Amino acid sequence: MNLSVFASGRGSNFEAIASAVRKGRLKVNLALLVCDQPQALVLKKAARLKVPSVLIQRDQCASRQEFEQRVIKQLEAYNIELIALAGFMQMLSRAFVRRYRNRIINIHPALLPSFKGAQAIKDTYAYGVKVTGVTVHFVDEKMDHGPIILQDAVTVAPSDTLAALEAKIHAIEHRLYPAAIRLFLKRRMRIKGRRVSY
Ligand code: GRF
Repeated sequence: MNLSVFASGRGSNFEAIASAVRKGRLKVNLALLVCDQPQALVLKKAARLKVPSVLIQRDQCASRQEFEQRVIKQLEAYNIELIALAGFMQMLSRAFVRRYRNRIINIHPALLPSFKGAQAIKDTYAYGVKVTGVTVHFVDEKMDHGPIILQDAVTVAPSDTLAALEAKIHAIEHRLYPAAIRLFLKRRMRIKGRRVSY
């Protein structure tokens, strides 16, 4: 199966997936990185790991539709069957989500449906939660909303700084995302309403 990771930034989840593939713990072809930010560290990581990448910038396209058309062209060229969003900072249109229905997954650094949005770790920390975690879910038309594949929780210790909490969350992410992709690859996942079984 051909997998594409979409990322806009640091790329630690991309790296964790690439490392699981390299070690034979994830039997998928990491065929393509799609990135929308020319300065993103993830582009350098892809080059180092010899994963093909494409840079498609939203601000160089006349519309979101044109941006997505260019992305789709690449996905088709690489026969992509599964898309894993990993810190991709573009909202995907309804049309795009419909086209790849149940074939786009996302990782979110909180226990959904709590703390949606781009600043979830900061938000949970500021709120003072005692337990938080990571969610991997299918992508639907609403942000951080689709059916949940896997979640894992972590406690926030009174002594944890924001940086310490971030480190705990990322450590979970790097284990949970490959695990969720592995479940997808078994092709036994069933989605019924919001419930995912495997
Ligand atoms: C991760 O925390 C992920 O949960 C969120 O964006 C962050 C991306 O981090 N969606 P990285 O670029 O994979 O290091």
